[in-house]
Amino acid sequence: MAVQISPSILSADFARLADEAARVENVADWLHVDVMDYHFVPNLTLGLPVVESLLKTTSTPIDCHLMIQDPDRWAPDYAEAGAASVTIHAEAAKAAVRTLRAIRAAGARAGLALNPATAVEGYEDLMPEIDMLLVMTVEPGFGGQRFLDIVMPKLSRARALIDKYGGEVWLQVDGGVSVETIERCAEAGADVFVAGNAVYGADDPARAVAELRSLAERATPPRW
Ligand code: DX5
Ligand code: ZN
Repeated sequence: MAVQISPSILSADFARLADEAARVENVADWLHVDVMDYHFVPNLTLGLPVVESLLKTTSTPIDCHLMIQDPDRWAPDYAEAGAASVTIHAEAAKAAVRTLRAIRAAGARAGLALNPATAVEGYEDLMPEIDMLLVMTVEPGFGGQRFLDIVMPKLSRARALIDKYGGEVWLQVDGGVSVETIERCAEAGADVFVAGNAVYGADDPARAVAELRSLAERATPPRW
């Protein structure tokens, strides 16, 4: 799997989202959109109407990360609206299999996210139901937090579980990913890298994406 970079607009200027999306167009593989509802996480961001507007303004595929209390109710709507990837949290879903299948049925890639304290082992049987596993490297809710090193062993175990399964499941990391931390994430087996502050906090977001990509590519171990 080639390295993919997904800049998070959580660190962008919310009053100028179309312009902010344009700054990474043709450079980023995805645009990461963090949906938060004040319940699953102690922060509130945006919802379906904003995602629908973004879809009209950018050609970059949208990677929706739903940090909401009731993903079973809402996730399929994001897929139907045209988000190319929709990720739900394992801790929030009450019917993960049904919801992941509904996301796929609506034509999107289905992602499953795990908080730092959630073990990956309990989700081994869900591998055939997902296109991407998201290992959170901060507690979800806010951008600009410090990368949690304690998650690294889980990231390696997640890579091993995916390899053992043998299907094509991408491994995404989200939280505190920067020039300081991206190489060790790549070494541990991540292949999709979300970066908020490291991209939108930079003077030149497009250059920041290119820099992160080259660091991750150099650190990615050969796989066969
Ligand atoms: C946090 C979000 C992240 C956030 C990452 O809950 O899921 O996507 O934007 O921001 P950084 O890269 O600044 O840690
Ligand atoms: Zn996110």
